[in-house]
Amino acid sequence: MAKKTNTRDSSGRSGLKSSYPYYLANRPVAANTDLDVLDKYSGQRATRVAMADAAAVRKAIVAGYQAREAVAAFPPDARRDVLEHCVRRFTERFDELAMALCIEAGKPIRDARGEVTRLIDSFRIAAGEATRIGGEVVELQISPRTRGYRGMVKRVPIGLCSFITPFNFPLNLVAHKVAPALAAGCPFILKPSEKTPIGALIIGEVLAETDLPKGAFSVLACSTDVASQLVEDERIALLSFTGGLIGWDLKTRAGRKKVTLELGGNAACVIDADPGASIDHVVDRLVFGAYYQSGQSCISVQRIYAHADIYEKLRKKLKAAVSKLRMGDPRDEDTFIGPMIDEAAAKRVDAWIEAARKGGAKRLAGGERIGNMVPATLLEGVAHNTDLYQREAFAPVALMEPFEDFEQAIELVNDSDFGLQAGVFTGNLNHAMRAWDKLEVGGVIVGDVPSFRVDNMPYGGVKHSGLGREGIRYAIEDMTEQRLLVIRDPVA
Ligand code: SIN
Repeated sequence: MAKKTNTRDSSGRSGLKSSYPYYLANRPVAANTDLDVLDKYSGQRATRVAMADAAAVRKAIVAGYQAREAVAAFPPDARRDVLEHCVRRFTERFDELAMALCIEAGKPIRDARGEVTRLIDSFRIAAGEATRIGGEVVELQISPRTRGYRGMVKRVPIGLCSFITPFNFPLNLVAHKVAPALAAGCPFILKPSEKTPIGALIIGEVLAETDLPKGAFSVLACSTDVASQLVEDERIALLSFTGGLIGWDLKTRAGRKKVTLELGGNAACVIDADPGASIDHVVDRLVFGAYYQSGQSCISVQRIYAHADIYEKLRKKLKAAVSKLRMGDPRDEDTFIGPMIDEAAAKRVDAWIEAARKGGAKRLAGGERIGNMVPATLLEGVAHNTDLYQREAFAPVALMEPFEDFEQAIELVNDSDFGLQAGVFTGNLNHAMRAWDKLEVGGVIVGDVPSFRVDNMPYGGVKHSGLGREGIRYAIEDMTEQRLLVIRDPVA
């Protein structure tokens, strides 16, 4: 059931503290300036967060830079113990964390629990990796000139890292930067989204319970202006950013530091003539992939390409399933569609939907926007030159279109500036292999939607979608550098 206005009072129901400090060099700091964090469903203030100013960010950089050696020398088993402590504490605080997500991000409670589970997974994976950062022996004796030389490579921490994270996964997209940094032995400064800083600050609170060397971490809620130091300061060795296309601008300002970008997408899913699964199963997965957490995921299904042989059947069933999705209070167990992050985002996508309809698209499911609530929307016949087709919707909206043969489907998927993940339902092994060979994306998911992610798999995009890969071990590779040792055998 949709709410009528954005004026409900959330006080007393949230379980959040009345205010949260930021963390500077491992210690909580209550500042004079506060940021209001809104309950995204009620529109009411849910809590307050201390805001770091430019001086605090400078101090965090100095502390993190000075901590480089101590954090690198913090032994791998001690890093593992810190990560395992986090796993334990997040498990104990599971319900509190899920409710925090539900309130600050408007994430339906079932999705919120799913994210806390993944947060725990990410830290558990990192705990395992902390004592497995190996090296290799390089055979140098490749010619008479090099006889008697031995080569070995180990990985050393890259140094101070800065992390900027988005609103849509306030815990797990933080985990994808923080947990590998802890495993790799890198100090870090994290700036969470101003819209959803609570998850990151609770992670900071848990890290403050550990014996990490002083300066190992700072978690700073701060404005974008103030955060520019985290992009530009030369003492920072690596910037890892997850968010919108602004990431490419950050890269141009980042100087010599290494940059990892996890940006957006308009992910596609292909349903072949033989999908390799029942249409009912495909519909279930498409509903999840396109509409969970109101489509606010970089790998949300936005474009559905279905073979003409099964198009009508799929269309009918998908339309019925999407029309039934329940929109309302994210705290309710039955809610599937919660609020979008703010009204501006909802208005933007609403305008894109209307423009697509004016351009000839037919709305199969959907309805009127109420404030920041956008009903689950399904369209067909969307023109390829529209924003809804070409840009990242980041909203509970998907479009569908038939294709005649598999090669055409591949061309349709690739007809995008983005390339994060693609899903392919097919019972044809050759088509699966062809998709893997030809799709211009970071990951091809056969037998499921592009929205599928396990936290240890390499995750990242090509084209405008980003640079580098996350997925704990892959992030650790970025956060460490190879250091070669060459030893010459004694010369007689
Ligand atoms: C994202 O939105 O980039 C993350 C998606 C996920 O981790 O499932």
